[in-house]
Amino acid sequence: MTTPASPTIVVALTAIVGERACLSGADTDAFTTDYRRLYLGKAVAVVLPASTDELSRVMAWCYTHGVPVVPQGGNTSLMGGSVPDDSGTAVVVSLKRMNQVVEVDAVNDTLTVQAGVTLSAARSAAEAAGRLFPLRIGSEGSCQIGGNLSTNAGGTAVLRYGNMRDLVLGVEAVLPDGRVYSGLRALRKDNTGYDLKQLFVGSEGTLGIITAAVLKLMPLPRSSSVAFVAVASPAAAVALLGEAKRTAGQAVTAFELVSRPALDLVLAYLGGEKSPLAGSHDWMVLIELTAGTDADSLDQTMVQLLEAGLEAGLVLDAAVAASGTDALAFWRIREEISDAQTRTGGSIKCDVSVPLSRIAGFIEEATAAVLALEPRTRMVVYGHMGDGNVHFNPLRPADTSAADYMAACYTQVSHAVDALAHAAGGSISAEHGIGVAKRDDLTLYKSPVELELMWQVKKALDPKNLLNPAKVLPAPH
Ligand code: MLT
Ligand code: ZN
Repeated sequence: MTTPASPTIVVALTAIVGERACLSGADTDAFTTDYRRLYLGKAVAVVLPASTDELSRVMAWCYTHGVPVVPQGGNTSLMGGSVPDDSGTAVVVSLKRMNQVVEVDAVNDTLTVQAGVTLSAARSAAEAAGRLFPLRIGSEGSCQIGGNLSTNAGGTAVLRYGNMRDLVLGVEAVLPDGRVYSGLRALRKDNTGYDLKQLFVGSEGTLGIITAAVLKLMPLPRSSSVAFVAVASPAAAVALLGEAKRTAGQAVTAFELVSRPALDLVLAYLGGEKSPLAGSHDWMVLIELTAGTDADSLDQTMVQLLEAGLEAGLVLDAAVAASGTDALAFWRIREEISDAQTRTGGSIKCDVSVPLSRIAGFIEEATAAVLALEPRTRMVVYGHMGDGNVHFNPLRPADTSAADYMAACYTQVSHAVDALAHAAGGSISAEHGIGVAKRDDLTLYKSPVELELMWQVKKALDPKNLLNPAKVLPAPH
C-alpha cells in the first residue's frame, strides 16, 4: 500500500485534533530526538490529542492509510523506545495534553489518571489525599504515567512496593486500529479470564497506546531512616541486605549500591556536594527504612543493623541522616548518577538483573571482563541492589573522547556484560526495557519459542505492524 503524501497526512490529522495540536516541520524537532541525544529521528507530524476519542480517530485514520505511529510520554527512555526512526514516515503521538488527575479515591486507595500526568503530579495528588503512590524514579518531573506503564518502570522503591506492573489495577488503551480497550477497573480481585491490561504494561507502546490508568495507593510513610554506608564488598552488601530484612522486615524500602567511581563522578558533577562519609571507599550502599506509624524507632533499628554489620566486618563506616535535609542530600547523590553520566558522555549503559545470590560474583566477573578490554575504564556500577538489579555502566577513561571509547568498546563491553548476566540466570534489561538499543540482542537471549510467541501477540493486536514499529521485537528470520 502506498502511504499518503505528507501534506495529506497533516491535513487529515489536523482535521481531527485541530491546528495547534498537529505539528509538522521544525515544530516536530523536540519530539524526534531522545533525551540522551543518541537517536535522531524524523516525523511526518506530531499529534497531541486532547482525549481518548481524538486519539482513537487518529489511530483509525493512520491504520486505514498504513501510516506508522510512535507513542511518546515524557520522552525519557534510555533505550530509544519513544522516538521515530529517521525515515520521516511516522506520526508521533504525544500524550502530554491528556494530563488530568481524574480521581483520588481514599476509601478504595486508588488513583485514576490520564496517561500524560507526570509521575511527580501523580505522587503529589496522592500525597494531598494522605496517600503514597510509591513509584520513585529520578525523572519523575518529566516522565509520564503512560510511559511508566508501557515500560514497566521500576526505580528505587521496588524492593518494598514492586514495579509498575504491581502498582496498576486498570488500564484504558487505544489499539492500533483505533478501537478502545476499556479496562479502567479499580478492582483488586478480577479473575475473569486473561489479564489483558498487563499486555500493555511493559510492551513499550507496541501493542496499544495507554490513555488512562487506575493505580494503587499505599499508606503515606510517617517515619523513616536513611543511611549512607561503606561496605567491605558487593558480597558484604548482599549479606547486609539479608541482615536488614531480618532486623527491619518490611520497613526495608530501598537498598541501593554505589561504586567509588559512581560517587566520584556524581560529586564532580554536582560541584558543592560532599560525600556523607569521611574516607574513600570502593563500595557503598544507601539504605532507607520507612514505616506507616509515628514510631521514632527506625533510627534505632538502623543503628542496630549497622552495629551488627560492623561487628560482622560487613560495614566499614556509616552516616545516618540526622534530618530530612540530610536524607535528601544522600538521595540526591544517588539519583544524579544517571545525569552525571549523560553529561560526561561515553558510558555504556547495561541494566542487568541476576538472582541476589549471584550478584557479587557477576559484578566481579563483569568488571574483570571490561577491564581486560580497557583497563582505564571507570566502573560506574550502581543501582537497585535490593532487586538484584545493577546499572553496570562502564565509563570512558577521563582522557578518552566519548566517540573513541564507544567506537572501540561499546559492542564488546555490552555483549560481554549481558552474556555474563545471562549466564548467571539474569536478564539483559532489568527495568529500562528494550526499545531499539537492545532489540537485536534479544535473539541471543530469548528462546525461539519466546520470540515466536511475542510476534504472535504483536500480530494479533497490530497485524499491519504500524505501532511503534521496529521497537522491542527483533525482525523474524
Ligand atoms: C537510575 O536508577 O538512576 C535509573 O534507572 C537511570 C539510569 O540508570 O540511568
Ligand atoms: Zn534504575
